[in-house]
Amino acid sequence: EKGTYPHYMLKEIDEQPFVIRNIIQQYQNEDGNLKLEESIRQAMKDTDRIYIVACGTSYHAGLVGKQFIEKMAGIPVEVHIASEFCYNMPLLSKKPLFIFISQSGETADSRAVLVQVKKMGYKALTLTNVPGSTLSREADYTLPLYAGPEIAVASTKAYIAQLAVLAILAVDTARAQGLSLDFEPLKELGIVANAIETLCDNKDEMKKIADEFLSTHHNAFFLGRGIDFYVCLEGALKLKEISYIQAEGFAGGELKHGPIALIEKDTPVVALSTQKQLDLNIRGNVKEVVARGANPCIISMEGMENEGDRFTIPAVHEMLTPLVSVVPMQLISYYAALHRGCDVDKPRNLAKSVTVE
Ligand code: F6R
Repeated sequence: EKGTYPHYMLKEIDEQPFVIRNIIQQYQNEDGNLKLEESIRQAMKDTDRIYIVACGTSYHAGLVGKQFIEKMAGIPVEVHIASEFCYNMPLLSKKPLFIFISQSGETADSRAVLVQVKKMGYKALTLTNVPGSTLSREADYTLPLYAGPEIAVASTKAYIAQLAVLAILAVDTARAQGLSLDFEPLKELGIVANAIETLCDNKDEMKKIADEFLSTHHNAFFLGRGIDFYVCLEGALKLKEISYIQAEGFAGGELKHGPIALIEKDTPVVALSTQKQLDLNIRGNVKEVVARGANPCIISMEGMENEGDRFTIPAVHEMLTPLVSVVPMQLISYYAALHRGCDVDKPRNLAKSVTVE
């Protein structure tokens, strides 16, 4: 039930710190070590390349998951949109492992790929919020997301749950290979939970940004580099699906190769900067769009802030910033949709679970 909340989406955004804390508990042994089924550990050990398959927001989680797994565990990962997989089928490695990411576990596009993968005799692992769902039953292994039921059509808490579980999987795989990591995932996720809580206590600022900066416009840019780019794709999807503002996420470096032609006076540009080594470059991109009249909204991370930044997220481990930086994007989208009188929980033309291909 949504209780005193006007919308499920807002309730589900607010639940995110609890979701992270729940995941920490569920994936922890009595001795404080990570708890993962031995068969999953073995499957991760046995593979020479991982193929992540998903749609929409879950696909965006997969892009971040690729970074986690490649950087921490050193296994190559490809991320594929489920509906394209059959036509644009990659050449498979000798020992592929498929990871399906799906909040509902019922998405038809992903199910079609799983059926094909099973026919070819490969192993599959499903990350889902609904254990017992089709994608969970038909895969060899399941990692539950423990986010609790997600009712709003726009996915929020399931996305951060997907990221948290992917981070845990990546660390566990690295450890199983004897790699030493300068990363204590459960401790770092605890810091993430606190950071999200701080952001959820700061909604007024997000509402202001949405009201003043976005609500009256027809289009918006989201710019990021590296892992921030993936969060920008998710931020743009969130905004477009619930507020109907045309929003696109771009890699900062791609601007000059086309998208910058769209910048006009007052075009809203959200720029995300949470990675120290990319900070100068993304700020350079902001200068380029401002020179063409854009109205920038820079979201940076504590310790990296510059004068003129609109908002700063609390500092967390540089690998885990997407779990935190997506929260202002979710809230800005929510308030922009509210301002425009949209049906936040049930946006037009969309269904919570897409069971047709
Ligand atoms: C966006 C959204 C969709 C879903 C997509 C996949 O907010 O919710 O893009 O992420 O339809 O759904 P699942 O994760 O259930 O497979």
